Amino acid sequence: MGRRGARLSRAIAAVMMLSLGGWTAPRLALPGFITDLGKPKTPPVVNVIPAPASVQTPPLALLGGAAVADGSVILVEPGDPEARQVAGYLQAHVARTRGLNLEIVEGGRVPAGRAVIVLRRRPGQDPNAEAYALDVGRGRVAITAAQAPGLFYGAVTLWQLLTPDAGRGPVALKPVHIADAPRFAWRGLMLDSARHYQSPEFIERLIDVMALHKLNRFHWHLTDDQAWRLQILKYPRLTEVGAWRVPAGAAAQGDIDPATGKPRLYGGFYTQAQVREIVAYAAARHVTIVPEIEMPGHGLSAVLAYPELGSDGDPPAAIQSDWGVFPWLYNPSDHTLGVMQDVLSEVMDLFPGADIHVGGDEAVKDQWKASPTIQAQMKAMGIRDEDALQSYFTHRIGEFLDAHGRKLVGWDEILNGGPLPAGATVMSWRGIGGAITAAKAGHDTVLAPAPTLYFDNRQANRADEPPGRGTTVSLRDVYLFDPAPAALTADQRKHILGVQANLWTEHVRTEDRAEAMIFPRLSASAEIGWSPTAVRDWTGFTERLPAQMDRYRALGVGADDAALAVSVDQSPSAAGDGALVRLATQIGLGDIRYTTDGAAPGPTSPAYAGPLTLPLPTHLRAAAFKGGQAVSPVADAILDPLTIRHRTSQQLKLCAGKLPLNLEDDGPVAGPRAVFLVDILQPCWIYEGADMPHALGLAVSVGQLPFNFQIGADRDKIVLHPPRAPDGELEVRLDSCAGELLASLPLAPATASTGVTTLAAPLPPRIGRHDLCFTFTAKHLDPMWAIDWVQLLPVEPTPAAVKPGA
Ligand code: ACM
Repeated sequence: MGRRGARLSRAIAAVMMLSLGGWTAPRLALPGFITDLGKPKTPPVVNVIPAPASVQTPPLALLGGAAVADGSVILVEPGDPEARQVAGYLQAHVARTRGLNLEIVEGGRVPAGRAVIVLRRRPGQDPNAEAYALDVGRGRVAITAAQAPGLFYGAVTLWQLLTPDAGRGPVALKPVHIADAPRFAWRGLMLDSARHYQSPEFIERLIDVMALHKLNRFHWHLTDDQAWRLQILKYPRLTEVGAWRVPAGAAAQGDIDPATGKPRLYGGFYTQAQVREIVAYAAARHVTIVPEIEMPGHGLSAVLAYPELGSDGDPPAAIQSDWGVFPWLYNPSDHTLGVMQDVLSEVMDLFPGADIHVGGDEAVKDQWKASPTIQAQMKAMGIRDEDALQSYFTHRIGEFLDAHGRKLVGWDEILNGGPLPAGATVMSWRGIGGAITAAKAGHDTVLAPAPTLYFDNRQANRADEPPGRGTTVSLRDVYLFDPAPAALTADQRKHILGVQANLWTEHVRTEDRAEAMIFPRLSASAEIGWSPTAVRDWTGFTERLPAQMDRYRALGVGADDAALAVSVDQSPSAAGDGALVRLATQIGLGDIRYTTDGAAPGPTSPAYAGPLTLPLPTHLRAAAFKGGQAVSPVADAILDPLTIRHRTSQQLKLCAGKLPLNLEDDGPVAGPRAVFLVDILQPCWIYEGADMPHALGLAVSVGQLPFNFQIGADRDKIVLHPPRAPDGELEVRLDSCAGELLASLPLAPATASTGVTTLAAPLPPRIGRHDLCFTFTAKHLDPMWAIDWVQLLPVEPTPAAVKPGA
C-alpha cells in the first residue's frame, strides 16, 4: 500500500469510529456511498439559487458524498413537529420534481443500506433563525439549524441539490459543507391582486415557489382604485360593489352578460376563509404575508362602495377601468379614520404578521385643496398644507396599529408632510431616495425601486413577451441592483431590512403572464436579498440558471425564457438579395450553434462567430450550448424576401419613448390578442434602414387600444395630427417624421374592427436605405391607434400580396 493508501485507511478507520450520538453511523459498504478518490480537489460549486453564503470542501471529502435514491430516508428527531413538517415538504417536492420517493423516519435507526438525510436541531448554532448548515459526506446528508426556518431553508437547498438538471431518479451528491444565512431579513415579492385578480390556488402556488427561493415576505396589494379584493365583514359593500368592474374598451363594452343584459363584469375577491387558509399555507413555508390596504389615495373602489369616505360629492357611477392616478382621496374625518381602523382590525385578525402596509403613494391632493370642509378642518387643526394632512392621517393610523402591536409600512410618500410615525417602515419605490431619507432618520426601510425591481416592465424586446410596461428590465438589470446605497453609513445601512420585487398587474391580465413576468427574474432578486456580496457573481448566476429553468419546468412554473433564448435579427444583406443575420442571447451563456438545412442544431454544429450573410430562402435554426448541453430552446427562422423585411412594433424604434407600454389591442374578450409596443404620449414608430429599392409597397397591421390612462396634465400634451378623411389615416414619411410623405393609408377599413386589420399601399421608388416614420392622424385619443407590424413588400401590393390579419 502506498503512502496515499495508508493515509486513506487511517481516515476510514477514524470515520468508522466516529460516534454519531445515536444517529446511524455511516457504513462504507452502503450502496449510497460514493467514493471520490483520485478526483482533483477543486473548490465545490453548488448549483443553488440564491448562492449560499459559504460553500467548502469538507475535511473528509475524500470519503465521498451521498447517493439519494428511492427509499432513501429522511430522519427527524422524535417530538419535533416542525422538523417533521420540513421533512414532509422536502419529501413532497423531491417526489414531484425528481420522481424520488423518500421515506420519513422519526428517530430510531435507519435500516442498513438506506442513504440518510438527517434534519437536526443544533441549539445555539447561529443566532439567525434562518441560518442552517448542510453537510454531504460519507453517505449522509445532515441539515442542522437552531430554528425551524433554518431547517426549512436547509431543506430547500437540498431540494435544489437533488434537482441539478431536468432528469428524474437518483442523484449522486458530492461532498460539501454549506454554512448559510441570509444577508437581509426582508426578502419580498409584491403581487397586485387589485388591478387583475388571481385565484387563491395561484396565490398559494406562488407562495410555494417563493419559499423555494428562500423569500419570506409576500406583500399582497389587495385594494386599489380599480378593485377592493378583501372581504371585510363589517363593510360588505367593499367587495359587493368594489370588487367588480367592466374592463376598458369597446370589446368589453360589447360583451353582454345574458344574466344582466349589461356588459359582463370582471373581478373577484378573497373571502376571509380563503385568506386564513392562504396565511396558514404561507406560514408553513416561513412566508409572512404583508397585506396592503391603500389610504388615503388609490381608494376609489371603497369610495364608490361607501361614498361618505370620499372627499368630493360627485364620484363616478361605477368602478373605473382606467390605469394611473385618480384624484379621489378618502376624507380625513374621524368617521373615515374610524372606518379604516375597523377595516384594519379585521385585517390584523386575518394576518398575524407584524407589518401592515397602508399604501400612501400617489395621493394627489386636488380634492383636498378644493373641499371647503377639508380646508376648514385643516384650519381648525392648525395643519399647514395637504401633505401635512396626509401625514396626520398616516399618524392616526400608525398610532392605531402601534396600539395593537403592529408596525405601519408605507410607500415612500409617507415621508412627505412631517416626521414619520414612530416605528414606521418606508418602502422605497421612487428609486432609493426614500430609503436613504428613512434610514438617515432612523427608520427601517425596504428597497423596492422602480424600474429595476418592478416586474411589470418587460424583460426583453421580443415580440412575444407578455404585455407590460415598455421599459426593458432584463434579468441582468435585476441581478446588478446594489442594495447598499453609498449615501448611507454602515450603521444607517442596518435600517435596510431588505429588498422586494413588485408585480403590478394593470397590463398583466392572466396568471400565466404573471408567472412569465416574475420568473426567472425572481431568482435574481432572491439572490440580491439572500447572498452576501462576496458570493454574488453574475457569470456564476447565469451558469446556475439552466438548472433553475429546469426546476421551474418541473414545478409547472411558466418562466420566461428571454434571458437564454437565441434571438434572430434578420435584415436584407448589403446587396438586398440575401439575409444578414445576427444571433445573440440576452445573457451570453454558452456558444450559439446553428444549422441552415432545417436540421436540429447540436453541440458540434457550426459556431456563430459574427453576422451571417445567407441566401434566400434559408431555414435557420440555432441554439446555445455549454459543456455539450443545450442551454436554450431552439430558435427557428425562415429567411425569405418577406421575413427579412418584417418588423413587429417591438422591433420598430419608438420615436420618443416617453411612456412606452407593451399593450394588448381592444380585441375579442376571449382568445388571442395582438400586443403592440406603443408610446402612449407620442404614438410614433421608426422602421430603421428600410432598403427602398426592394420596398415597392408596404402592408401594415394596425389596431386600436382603449386610452384608459389617468395621466393628469400629460394628456393635454399629446399632439393629435388632424385627419384629412373622417376616420383618419396612417402616414408614412421618409427619413424623419417631418420628411416627405410617402404613403397615406386610410384607416376607414380598420375602424369597425375590434381586432387588427392589414392595410396596404404602394411606395414610390427611392434609392438606398432610409428610415421610415409612421404616425396616425386622429380626432380623438380614445381609442388610440397602434401598429402591430410593418411588412415591406418587394412588389407593389395586390390583394394576393397582403394576407389580411397575417
Ligand atoms: C407605486 O408604484 N405607486 C408604489
